[in-house]
Amino acid sequence: MDAIYVENLVKKYQNGMQALNGVSLTVKEGEIFSLLGENGAGKSTLINILTTYLRPTSGTISVFGKDIHNEAAVIRSGIACVAQRTSIDTHLSLTENMMFQSKLYKIPKTEAKDRMEILISCFGLERYLKYPVSSYSGGVKRRLDIALNMMSNPKILFLDEPTVGMDVQSRMAMWEMMKKIRSDFGTTIFLTTHYLEEAESLSDTICIMKDGKEVLQGTPHTLRQYLQQNILKITFADKGAAKIGLKQIAKFFSGRKVVLHEEHLSVCCENSQVDLKQAGHLLFEQNIAFMGIEILQPSLEDVFIRLTSRGVS
Ligand SMILES: Nc1ncnc2c1ncn2[C@@H]1O[C@H](COP(=O)(O)OP(=O)(O)O)[C@@H](O)[C@H]1O
Ligand SMILES: [Mg+2]
Repeated sequence: MDAIYVENLVKKYQNGMQALNGVSLTVKEGEIFSLLGENGAGKSTLINILTTYLRPTSGTISVFGKDIHNEAAVIRSGIACVAQRTSIDTHLSLTENMMFQSKLYKIPKTEAKDRMEILISCFGLERYLKYPVSSYSGGVKRRLDIALNMMSNPKILFLDEPTVGMDVQSRMAMWEMMKKIRSDFGTTIFLTTHYLEEAESLSDTICIMKDGKEVLQGTPHTLRQYLQQNILKITFADKGAAKIGLKQIAKFFSGRKVVLHEEHLSVCCENSQVDLKQAGHLLFEQNIAFMGIEILQPSLEDVFIRLTSRGVS
C-alpha cells in the first residue's frame, strides 16, 4: 500500500491565490520522499494539507489507504509534523520535554520511558542531557524537536524545510538522523526542501514541484536520466583553439546546441559514442589541437534548471 496518494489536488486561498494547481504524487511506505521546489512552489501548502492543518479546495488524498476527508482523526494519530518553529519548551529539561510529549499522546509512562531512552541513544542526544535546553544550538534543538515528534511512533514523519538556515555540519547531522529514522524505525519521511543537494543525497524519491504542480517524480537516478542527453565536453589548449573548434564543431553538428565556456565546448549529444568518434575525427582532420573529449552525464542540477526555469515546461 502507498503511504500517501495525492491526485489532482487544488488549493485556492481565500484571497484568490491558487497555491496548488492539480498536483498528483505517490509516496511509498518506508521511503524518504523529498518535495523539491523553489520558494512559492506550494510545498508548505501541500504539507499543511497532508497533515490536516489546511483543507484542500478539491482533489483526492489518501494516507495509508484512508481518505483525508472522512478519516482525518485516524490519519492525525498516525503522523507527526516537524514545523519550522520548534515545539520545544526551553523551561523544561530534555527528558521533561520528551515525557511531556508522551503525555499529549497518552503513552503509558513505562513505555514512554523506554521509547525516550531508545530515541536519546539513537539520535546521540545523551551528551546534551546535563545542559539546559535553552543553551542548545539551533541544530541540536531541531534534533530534539524531531526526537519529540518520534515519541508517538508515527508511521509518517513530515518535515517542512528541516535544514533551512543551518550550517553544513548541522545539516549533515540532520541527514544522518533522517536516514536513521528510516532504517531503525521504518518511518516514512516526507520532507520539503529547496536544496537540490539535500534532496539528492537523502531521498529515495524526489518530486520536483513548480507553480503548484509536480513536474517530475522519480529516484535521483531516474531524474538524472530524464534529460536523456549526454553532453560531449571537448577541452582545448586555450581559448583561441576553442574558438576555432567551436566554428568547426557547430558547422558539423548543425542544429545541435553547442556552447563555448572558456577553453572547452559542450555539445548536446544524440548518440554519445558516435558523436564522440565523429568529433574526434573532425578535429584530427582539421588539425585543431585539443586536449581531450569526454562524455558527461547531466547532473540533477541540469535537470532541475531545465524543468523549473521560467518559460520552459
Ligand atoms: N495563507 C495564505 N494566503 C494566501 N496565499 C498564500 C498563503 N500561504 C501561502 N500563500 C501563497 O501560496 C503560494 C505557495 O506558497 P507556499 O506553499 O508557502 O510555497 P513554498 O512552501 O513552496 O515556498 C505562494 O505564492 C504564497 O505566497
Ligand atoms: Mg514553505
